[in-house]
Amino acid sequence: MKLLVTGGAGFIGSAFVRLALAHNWAARLVILDKLTYAGNLENLAAIETDPRYRFVHGDICDLALLGKLLDDERPDAIVHCAAESHVDRSILGPGAFVETNVRGTFCLLEAARAAQTPRFLHVSTDEVYGSIEEPHAAHESFPLRPSSPYSASKAGSDLLALSYFSTFKTPVVITRASNNYGPYQFPEKLIPLMISNALEDLPLPIYGDGLQVRDWLFVDDHCRAIWAALNHGREGEIYNIGGSRALPNREVVSLILAQLGKPESLMTPVADRPGHDRRYAITSAKLAAASGWQAEVPFEQGIIRTIQWYRENRAWIDRVKSGEYQGYYQRNYGDR
Ligand code: NAD
Ligand code: TYD
Repeated sequence: MKLLVTGGAGFIGSAFVRLALAHNWAARLVILDKLTYAGNLENLAAIETDPRYRFVHGDICDLALLGKLLDDERPDAIVHCAAESHVDRSILGPGAFVETNVRGTFCLLEAARAAQTPRFLHVSTDEVYGSIEEPHAAHESFPLRPSSPYSASKAGSDLLALSYFSTFKTPVVITRASNNYGPYQFPEKLIPLMISNALEDLPLPIYGDGLQVRDWLFVDDHCRAIWAALNHGREGEIYNIGGSRALPNREVVSLILAQLGKPESLMTPVADRPGHDRRYAITSAKLAAASGWQAEVPFEQGIIRTIQWYRENRAWIDRVKSGEYQGYYQRNYGDR
């Protein structure tokens, strides 16, 4: 297969690219990435000399660039990972989320329609369902109740993608995954932020009571699920991808502190996030039935692998935390 991966220099996109080349999923693989604060060519160092791979620096909102790229490359499938991806940043500044997640996805759908790309895998999130009451778990027909500008922009892009299937028969498949963790995740999300702060003995900011529940999915399990949905998913359908490992935030942070031999006193309660979803929960039975996919990495193993990676890659952390990150940290946590 010839693949175009948008956002391939980010956390999930780069994991997908590394796996796709390692497992020969792709005979040729082109990345399109704008290299925002979250995009990092270091994430692709392991494959940069692979002759099957090409990197294109550009914006998914650039229709002319997309048209030319699809004409030149004629990919068999687009794996659309590019997005603004962090809830707290969407609270500080929603505009970029509407631009990239809604308008950018629209541009990509338009370009794919014009080029008649045979497959369009739109990577989305379980956050579009909003907070789910115990004991329920969202299946793919649950109503969309996004709470943050991030999740609303993803829900908007999902609806656009579905409309392209209904109206133009664009061969769209949507995946909605739960919270990912693993190596190379930007230290703004819970797990890498807590690991990197703990490594420096800095306070670990816990929003509200810290009893919010997230379902944790190891990033490689997510990428295998994307591949499964790309190959076995039905056009116009949505597939949830969960880790089946629901944990309250405080428990996750305690585990990290215990692994690093750091005191629980580093946990510092701070003001809650506005619109904070209490609990996410989904079922992945539909993808399992369609493809046989199952999460393979238990949380206890995945978190140890992740902590180990951050311990061994302090230079990577230092580089991504220099520059823009400091300003973001001050804006998000300064007065909290
Ligand atoms: P990330 O923030 O780590 O990476 C996003 C990538 O997209 C970066 O490389 C960035 O440079 C690129 N990008 C941003 N705007 C762009 C634009 N306009 N044009 C081209 N490239 C652009 O994000 P991630 O965590 O890897 O998430 C990838 C996808 O998975 C997103 O669609 C996200 O909504 C979805 N998702 C993430 C999670 C999670 O836990 N991280 C869970 C479920 C779904
Ligand atoms: P996050 O990684 O931002 O993912 P999402 O909000 O998309 O689920 O946050 C995961 C959980 O951790 C969420 O309940 C918010 C909480 N959290 C904190 O308590 N402190 C923090 O500094 C961050 C970044 C998140």
